Amino acid sequence: MSKTIIQAKGLVKAYGEGGGKTYALNGVDMEVKENEFLVILGGSGSGKSTLLNMLGGMDRVDEGQIYFHGKDIAKATRRELTVYRRDSIGFVYQFFNLLNDLTVLQNVMIAPGSNKHKQRALDILERMGLSDKIDKFPGQLSGGQQQRVAVARALNKECELLLCDEPTGALDASSGKAMLELLEELHNEGKTIVLVTHTREIAAMATRVIHMKDGKIIDEYTNEKPCKASTINW
Ligand SMILES: Nc1ncnc2c1ncn2[C@@H]1O[C@H](COP(=O)(O)OP(=O)(O)OP(=O)(O)O)[C@@H](O)[C@H]1O
Ligand SMILES: [Mg+2]
Repeated sequence: MSKTIIQAKGLVKAYGEGGGKTYALNGVDMEVKENEFLVILGGSGSGKSTLLNMLGGMDRVDEGQIYFHGKDIAKATRRELTVYRRDSIGFVYQFFNLLNDLTVLQNVMIAPGSNKHKQRALDILERMGLSDKIDKFPGQLSGGQQQRVAVARALNKECELLLCDEPTGALDASSGKAMLELLEELHNEGKTIVLVTHTREIAAMATRVIHMKDGKIIDEYTNEKPCKASTINW
């Protein structure tokens, strides 16, 4: 049995007031185990990003517990939460969150908790096919290139858990596949990955799949034979 990294129980997160209240999460129980490639599927508005944000300590739940190696981050102080985000989590945002005044290389090197060795950043950028873009600013890159910078930035941390929100969302089919192949490689090297997407086909490469709808988990299964990223088409 592999070790449990995260165990979440009874997660509730609502936005708005009274009649206009939306339950982004409405009673979610889930876990993440060491070296899983967990894919969270669901339509737009089903609560996927909200769940990922809560797991990554980006925001707080209204109710519930999120145990990270047994310690409840839902009860953590602000300071503890900052340390958790900095030291334990690599996060690839749905909308990149790159700093526009910094170059590609600076974006990858400057995030809190990131490795400050230039050579490592350069190696990761090469792996992402961005070697010729290191001195460009995000505004000079295509959406797909920016998305790859966002992944490079998350990878330039010795994080235990990599959380990716729609990492293929801005990519065409061939760069999307290259992205999945990269994540597959990282998984094979031992990284634990949680990937959120509404692209059902991507679930075929997961070791486990969670399906969300209306802030709830409606299905969950283990994939005994994950397929290779290179065989996925959408
Ligand atoms: N900051 C916010 N303020 C108000 N409502 C929000 C906020 N964030 C999310 N919501 C609502 O919570 C619900 C879940 O949103 P969430 O972003 O988690 O969905 P999602 O599954 O990631 O969707 P998508 O696939 O479109 O990214 C939606 O109804 C959304 O409108
Ligand atoms: Mg989302």
